[in-house]
Amino acid sequence: MMLQEIKKKAIAEYFWMNRPWVILTGAGISTESGIPDFRSPHTGLWKQYDPMEILSTDVLFNKPELFYQIGFSILMKFKHAQPNQAHCILASWESRGLVKAIITQNIDSLHIDAGSKKVLEIHGHLRTAHCMKCLRTVSIEKLESLVNGGQIPPHCSCGGIIRPDVVLFGDMLPSSFEEAIKMVQNSPLLVIGSSLQVSPANLIPSLAKKLIIVNLDETPFDNRAAFVLHGKAGMLLNFLDEEVKKIAERV
Ligand code: APR
Repeated sequence: MMLQEIKKKAIAEYFWMNRPWVILTGAGISTESGIPDFRSPHTGLWKQYDPMEILSTDVLFNKPELFYQIGFSILMKFKHAQPNQAHCILASWESRGLVKAIITQNIDSLHIDAGSKKVLEIHGHLRTAHCMKCLRTVSIEKLESLVNGGQIPPHCSCGGIIRPDVVLFGDMLPSSFEEAIKMVQNSPLLVIGSSLQVSPANLIPSLAKKLIIVNLDETPFDNRAAFVLHGKAGMLLNFLDEEVKKIAERV
């Protein structure tokens, strides 16, 4: 039996024996849904703009044209993206008791769209926006129509500026981050599709006592993981799902 096969079976056993898992996902799990990630070379989208600059509170407040005409419009380009195989497998694992929660850095709502119930969106989401003065919530479609109608920055009827409910560089993280930290201290963690370069999200894998990483490229946490699978999330999760089903049938 090839080494790879032995490794695959060992990972599936480890995954099964330590269930349920907490999952941490990054932009890499959504690239197979057509949404470019942030740091893979030649992803095009972010080649000419630094997301850490454009998607920041400094640009939102001081250069709203740059934020809304570039940053916001880039984010909204992918609002019709659909969940891919990896999102769907994770939702199935939750319903089968293999996954207890997903912590995601993604704002694309694809885990929720795939049917996952316990999803901690630690970088917010693109479903709604709010007025920074009266805090009224509006739909992202309303915000988009104001921006597309040339109102930059977009204003609320109270005169305040409206911003999307995503976490920008410079923002505090939402309370879901604290919940994520508590959760990962007592559960094994499977990381999927993240470079693990952005803090404080990369504090999460540093707290995990049991760690598996599934990622196209190497990450700074590979040497801490019990197992690392470098490759595409859809194909690798599908393989792991097949192996785990075989184990589940034996018990
Ligand atoms: N399967 C598995 N891994 C993939 C795939 C794929 N199909 N496609 C890309 N990857 C990997 C890349 O190798 C890369 O290491 O996903 C990782 C994505 O890393 P980033 O682009 O840095 O995205 P992420 O880790 O989510 O960034 C974190 O940074 O810009 C901020 O707020 C933004 O939430 C984002 C945060």
